Amino acid sequence: MTIIDGKLISEQIILELKEETAKIIQKRERAPGLVAILVGENPASKVYVNSKKKACDNIGFHSEVLKLSENISELELVEIVQKYNENELFDGILVQLPLPKHISEDKIIETISSEKDVDGFHPINVGKLSIGQDSLIPCTPYGILELLKRYKIQTVGKHVVVVGRSNIVGKPIANLMLQKNNNANSTVTIVHSATKNISHYTKQADILIAAIGKANFITAEMIKENATIIDVGINRIEDSNSPKGYKLVGDVDFNSVSEKAEFITPVPGGVGPMTIAMLMKNTYKAYLRNINK
Ligand code: GUN
Repeated sequence: MTIIDGKLISEQIILELKEETAKIIQKRERAPGLVAILVGENPASKVYVNSKKKACDNIGFHSEVLKLSENISELELVEIVQKYNENELFDGILVQLPLPKHISEDKIIETISSEKDVDGFHPINVGKLSIGQDSLIPCTPYGILELLKRYKIQTVGKHVVVVGRSNIVGKPIANLMLQKNNNANSTVTIVHSATKNISHYTKQADILIAAIGKANFITAEMIKENATIIDVGINRIEDSNSPKGYKLVGDVDFNSVSEKAEFITPVPGGVGPMTIAMLMKNTYKAYLRNINK
């Protein structure tokens, strides 16, 4: 059994980007730029946005965190996003989700220029991905693809079972694994909350991708011997031994499943760190497109 080290791979990607950025800045007058917009006081969102800023600083990207009040109106937020669409110093715009209930997330995502949509959530990017055109790919699925690639896990003709159908992970990873290229070309099944007998499908998976947000949902009896297990879940469960009173676990029961799997991602340290690395990669890609226009 091999534990897939997402922390290590993400550090390699960050280092690669840092080197490329240093080289290109020598030739160009401006660095790649990312703005992260945070609305309200959600503690988890604050942690995510700060880690994104830190990654930018480390690589040498120009970055800004714009903190806005919970009470900002939808129209005000739309106008702020439009200003960043026009601002040539920023190649990427990220509006941290979730947004307060009075603001439509769909409306805000559609306001972001699809060329600056480094989350890959804009309908134009979603559409391009589904028809196999070059696009900005959502960061978590993109990170999973990169882990499979760097660990040389065969995907062509393999059965990938995705558990969960979210717009952020389930649907885009299913689309990516369907693409006709050597890093995908899989047979894909998606199961979800209305699927009858989920384990009937998960037992057939050569590669199982769990993205449902239920702690320890996937157990050893639900998987095939020597499968590859990708755990996207980040769930807090009570832990009286931890000073914080909780610990983070995935959607996969790591202890039992790791004994049967060939490859498995841990939580934390698996898919999580890859998400930020791929956000940086998307920002760099958007920058390259901009400077070569
Ligand atoms: N909230 C949780 N995950 C994400 C993400 O990948 N991007 C944004 N913008 N918000 C999130």
